[in-house]
Amino acid sequence: MAERIPVNAPDSTYDIVIESGLMQQADRLVDEFGLGRRVAVVTNTTLAPLYGQALVERLPNAALITMPDGEQHKTLATVTQLYGDLVRAKLDRGSTVVALGGGVVGDTAGFAAATYMRGVRLVQIPTSLLSMVDSSVGGKVGVDLPEGKNLVGAFKQPDAVMIDPDVIGTLPPQEWRNGMAEVLKHGLLADPALLDPALHAPEQAAELVRRAVQVKVDVVEQDPYEKGIRAHLNLGHTFAHAIEQVTQYQWPHGAAVGFGLLAAAQLSYALAMCDSDVPEQVEDVLATAGLPRRLNGLDADAIYAAMSTDKKWQNGHSRFILLRGIAHVEIVEDVPKSTVIEVLRRLQ
Ligand SMILES: NC(=O)c1ccc[n+]([C@@H]2O[C@H](COP(=O)([O-])OP(=O)(O)OC[C@H]3O[C@@H](n4cnc5c(N)ncnc54)[C@H](O)[C@@H]3O)[C@@H](O)[C@H]2O)c1
Ligand SMILES: [Zn+2]
Repeated sequence: MAERIPVNAPDSTYDIVIESGLMQQADRLVDEFGLGRRVAVVTNTTLAPLYGQALVERLPNAALITMPDGEQHKTLATVTQLYGDLVRAKLDRGSTVVALGGGVVGDTAGFAAATYMRGVRLVQIPTSLLSMVDSSVGGKVGVDLPEGKNLVGAFKQPDAVMIDPDVIGTLPPQEWRNGMAEVLKHGLLADPALLDPALHAPEQAAELVRRAVQVKVDVVEQDPYEKGIRAHLNLGHTFAHAIEQVTQYQWPHGAAVGFGLLAAAQLSYALAMCDSDVPEQVEDVLATAGLPRRLNGLDADAIYAAMSTDKKWQNGHSRFILLRGIAHVEIVEDVPKSTVIEVLRRLQ
């Protein structure tokens, strides 16, 4: 079944199309999104043989550009390489970049599309669960610096997002779990149905993606430039970023976010903001999704120290996205350090 979610961006509107088998109907891209002119499909070395080559063969006038796979290649060096590839592929200002891949390809190729010739058209074809429900929607693109992640970027709204849930079939299980952490985050933010394990079966992927995307769309439409409510999308992420730092990225982002959701729920309960059934439900659903619920020896004080370098903690005032209940979030400042440490110690 085809789903079409229209998105109102600041100066444009675009559609997110979710449909099984979409990758086999690339000619529709040409008709629907005006891709008749020069197109560059940017993908990585893993996805080129799986989907990239076949996609380019179905598109008239398209070139295939391949970047290496992995977060360590989400850099300005890769963007520089892409600019040269785009010139050689004869892309002009009326051309389109199609970003085919997970969040790394989407962010890197998206940044190249935002800046090459002061901006060309961009179509996102996200292939990982995370990129389907999170990074391909909302217009944030960018790359990492040696000094930190996502330190260079732009807002670049796509002209379309095309999601074929069938491609999840080749996604490694760990990447499915990573994406599930963000899906559960969206469930806790605004759509409790996403917490129902019945919806987590592979055959439900299209419906799962549709519901999770809708939560992100609703937030970014209200706050396209991240000035207010978009902060809610950081639920669990204050803890997650600290854990990633302390473990030097040994914990994958999804695992850290999963644990972070539980820590946020436990902290909300410790502050008497919600009943105990909220952290209990989070713990259950993390277990079902195969995401961590314990710190396994990581030091609570070290995690707190890493959190306090968060740029959103202005002048040392702590700031957490917490839960009054499922689908009821609140930003809370100046949470006592001792309460946070106690929650983390209990989750050892
Ligand atoms: N722009 C945003 O708003 C935003 C939001 C969240 C995350 N991000 C960024 O997204 C990135 C993470 O994205 P990700 O989790 O998709 O990681 P990723 O792009 O590294 O993809 C994970 C792995 O899965 C592989 N893969 C993807 N789809 C596949 C498929 N269908 N079949 C087989 N293999 C497949 C990729 O090649 C890669 O090896 C991070 O850099 C993060 O900063 C951006
Ligand atoms: Zn995240």
